[in-house]
Amino acid sequence: MQLTKEQVLQALSNVEEPDLKKDLVTLNMIQDIQIDGNKLAFSVVLTTPACPLKGLIENACRNAISHFISPEVDVTVNMTSQVTTQKNTGVPGVKNIIAVASGKGGVGKSTVAANLALALASTGAQVGLIDADIYGPSVPIMFGLEGARPKATQQNGKTRIEPIEKYGIKLLSIGFFTDPNQPVPWRGPMVSTAVKQLFNDAEWGDLDYLVVDLPPGTGDIHITVTQSFPITGAVIVTTPQNVALADAKKGVGMLMMDSINVPILGVIENMSYFTPAELPDNKYHIFGQGGGLALAELVGAPFLGELPLVRSVSESGDAGKPVVLTDEGVMHKAFVHIAERVAQQIAINNARATNYADVTDR
Ligand SMILES: Nc1ncnc2c1ncn2[C@@H]1O[C@H](COP(=O)(O)OP(=O)(O)OP(=O)(O)O)[C@@H](O)[C@H]1O
Ligand SMILES: [Mg+2]
Repeated sequence: MQLTKEQVLQALSNVEEPDLKKDLVTLNMIQDIQIDGNKLAFSVVLTTPACPLKGLIENACRNAISHFISPEVDVTVNMTSQVTTQKNTGVPGVKNIIAVASGKGGVGKSTVAANLALALASTGAQVGLIDADIYGPSVPIMFGLEGARPKATQQNGKTRIEPIEKYGIKLLSIGFFTDPNQPVPWRGPMVSTAVKQLFNDAEWGDLDYLVVDLPPGTGDIHITVTQSFPITGAVIVTTPQNVALADAKKGVGMLMMDSINVPILGVIENMSYFTPAELPDNKYHIFGQGGGLALAELVGAPFLGELPLVRSVSESGDAGKPVVLTDEGVMHKAFVHIAERVAQQIAINNARATNYADVTDR
């Protein structure tokens, strides 16, 4: 039997990308086909390394070759990715900007932003994190970088800031430029200038995802960030109780206003339930139940998942190493799941905005 590229493409055109609802060949995801006797190798170029359907797609490719050509073909599938983008983010080299927001304070935005960034990076993506909370920056403590000062150089009369690299991601926090013992009374225009500098004056290099940790509420910083940079989408963090839900609604409402118009990628419910270490199968919904799902339905965005209340989250945060790096169990899995869902939603939105208008939400 003489295997040909045409046969391979024909066979793989039967495999549909489940999110984008088109076949892999039409989507130009099959590349680098190599044939040597009955040995076949090809690459599948996914839209994100965090694709939760990676295994499923690989299996479908193998089955298609076996079914439409022959089970005798010796197949090597190389699963790779090229993260998609839909518009110029205003920051050179940065493909997607993800804002992490909530209405109320203390619901876990900074925890989610840091662990989401690290979980995305753990899949192989290039990731940056901006802590834009002037009033209560979290990144210096969560990453063990108190007192750190990013290097700044002058290039052609312009200041260029080098983000600090830790645990495989690039970081900048407004906290790197302030003295925690001497709180500066920030005024509106200063806030706006300082926040824009974190995006514009930094050497971010090539990033697949730049995660932005926003302060609580809906203030100057939100307006600056959302109006100065085309945000790919926002993830909303909420807690299960109804009071937080009411506030979260306000936060989401602001992002969805016509003049701001940030797509909502989805809702994450934090502190959903408590599980004691000695009773790992028991879930205690101490703050109520269903708030995240209700908010997701209200704003018409996907529910991206729930995160339990676990003491190691705050301990790791305080110890300078976020929980996704220290925990192997439930918390790690929960964050990786959420990172996959966020990346998936971005890939779907990007596909819909650029070429494939018939893509539907999951
Ligand atoms: N799932 C969780 N389990 C246990 N502790 C958590 C969890 N999520 C967050 N925390 C803790 O709750 C506190 C508040 O979290 P975090 O700072 O992430 O919230 P925030 O929304 O960013 O707050 P702010 O509005 O002040 O910026 C922190 O001490 C954090 O470690
Ligand atoms: Mg915070």
